[in-house]
Amino acid sequence: MTETPTQHLTDTEAGLARAAQLLRSGQLVAFPTETVYGLGADARNGTAVAQIFAAKGRPAFNPLIVHVADLEMARQIAAFTPEALELARRFWPGPMTLVLPLREDAGLSLLVTAGLKTVGVRVPGHPVARRLLREFAGPVAAPSANPSGKISPTTAAHVLAGLNGKIAAIVDGGACGVGIESTIIGFGPAPVLLRPGGLAAEAVEEVLATPLPRPAPKPEAPNAPGQLSSHYAPSALLRLNATDKREGELKLGFGPDPEADLNLSETGDLTEAAANLFAHLHALDGRGPVGIAVAEVPQTGLGVAINDRLKRAAAPRP
Ligand code: TXA
Ligand code: MG
Repeated sequence: MTETPTQHLTDTEAGLARAAQLLRSGQLVAFPTETVYGLGADARNGTAVAQIFAAKGRPAFNPLIVHVADLEMARQIAAFTPEALELARRFWPGPMTLVLPLREDAGLSLLVTAGLKTVGVRVPGHPVARRLLREFAGPVAAPSANPSGKISPTTAAHVLAGLNGKIAAIVDGGACGVGIESTIIGFGPAPVLLRPGGLAAEAVEEVLATPLPRPAPKPEAPNAPGQLSSHYAPSALLRLNATDKREGELKLGFGPDPEADLNLSETGDLTEAAANLFAHLHALDGRGPVGIAVAEVPQTGLGVAINDRLKRAAAPRP
């Protein structure tokens, strides 16, 4: 792990060149994606990837998403089915991860896939992520850039609050637009939804012209995210589907709500709510309340991913 202070890089040509150089030398660089900030390492360098787990204090059993600049590079790593190709062409660059058979000649560190025969790949849409990946010209393993079990970061300040001094650098690209992690699709070989996320499952179903099965999570053998039940947890206790605000609580509203201390979306817009989710949880938690009362969020479109994250944040702590 690095002991020097974390370098704060700007999204200029010089900043991105420096970031790519640090990645090449096996160091950790946090960077913005359209979903959340990622903590990047060269996916071919086992020592670099191991440092991700060390910096995050993360249990080492779950595989990481590999970020690449384009579909061509993704096809050098994973074997695409016709349906996967169709989804990639339609939704990349964007907030969608595909879990596909790992190619034998992919050259990835075994740690990235946790020894699995499959790999999660994604072409992020954030312009800074794209420029960095092109400049680096290789695969970048990147989980969300937060200490394990904490809320995912949607600003550079969130990243530094958790990882300052533990990573070589951060590229500051402002706030993330989508605000929740990518939607993960697995292929068994038929497509299944492994994690609801920033791309609505309905949009995927429309392209596939078939419903996407959602396999029940297996807590003891997690093969998709948020594997631990209390992932994404703030310090304060969360009370979901709250209609009131109790003593010592702050309220996170959805829709018009005069009682709300912060509101995911006053107009009840799910896209706006997703973008605000982690930032608002960070902000309310930072005020040190006993609890956070969270208004009900409808279980449709991006609401499915929002409720998934809220449920994990509210789960009993280990
Ligand atoms: O939006 C995102 O996806 C963000 C940004 C940084 O790109 N990344 C992210 O990574 O959320 P992470 O590591 O926090 O979540 C990756 C999830 C893991 O929970 C893992 O279980 C699942 O992807 N995953 C990765 N590879 C997999 C595989 N081969 N099989 C099943 N699940 C896999
Ligand atoms: Mg994460």
